[in-house]
Amino acid sequence: MNIVLFGKPGAGKGTQAPLLAEQLGVPTLATGDVLRAAVREGTPLGLQAKAAMERGDLVPDEVILGIMKETLAKPAYSRGVILDGVVRTVPQAEGLDRLMRELGRRVDAVLCFDIDNEEIVQRLSGRLVCDKCQTPYSEGQPGDPCGKPGCEGRLMRRKDDEPEAIRRRLHVYEEQTAPVLDWYRSKGTRIAMVDAVGEVNAVTQRARAALEG
Ligand code: AP5
Repeated sequence: MNIVLFGKPGAGKGTQAPLLAEQLGVPTLATGDVLRAAVREGTPLGLQAKAAMERGDLVPDEVILGIMKETLAKPAYSRGVILDGVVRTVPQAEGLDRLMRELGRRVDAVLCFDIDNEEIVQRLSGRLVCDKCQTPYSEGQPGDPCGKPGCEGRLMRRKDDEPEAIRRRLHVYEEQTAPVLDWYRSKGTRIAMVDAVGEVNAVTQRARAALEG
């Protein structure tokens, strides 16, 4: 099963992706995590992506398509994938479509997390992320060091969770990412809408129901 998680920054894609992956038995690919690891390690990919990410802008489509091409062909991804943070532009949707066809697969559903901007700003201004495994936490949650078994990373604030970068990311979402949903509609891909507000496990259950419905 190949599923695209879709929604505004802070909608809960990164929280839900591993939960859904575990339940559905497929791995995740989170482009934001791949890019942040590259920035930390100072690789050429990281150097290329760093400034755009800190501003809240998108990194170039060809960079994202390169990551997807390299990852999705791996045997670990042959049974399916949960894509977290891709696709964010129409050219990325077209590129993923081509790549899936080359692999004899297709996007089975777009799972769209629905949430308003006020809740987003509240969530992102209170978010802390593990510097090792990238698990997101909300301020005030127990979890420093990271509570994930065997991790023990430290919790950090992301540079793009500063107020100006949050505003920029929401603007970029409306301008460049929201149109992707219409692109998938025009291709007849199933779009499953999920109310993203509420307790985390309740959102996971709604997401499962939306995928099955
Ligand atoms: P990325 O890391 O993908 O960031 P994003 O899409 O902006 O999404 P976020 O990680 O901010 O939010 P999320 O939806 O995962 O929410 P989360 O679960 O953390 O990308 C970062 C950057 O990389 C981009 O800006 C861009 O520069 C670049 N990039 C990445 N992919 C790209 C692409 N395809 N093309 C171009 N550029 C790309 O939750 C947020 C907070 O809410 C957390 O604190 C969490 O604990 C809390 N929370 C979650 N669920 C709930 C709930 N149900 N109730 C209460 N709180 C909750």
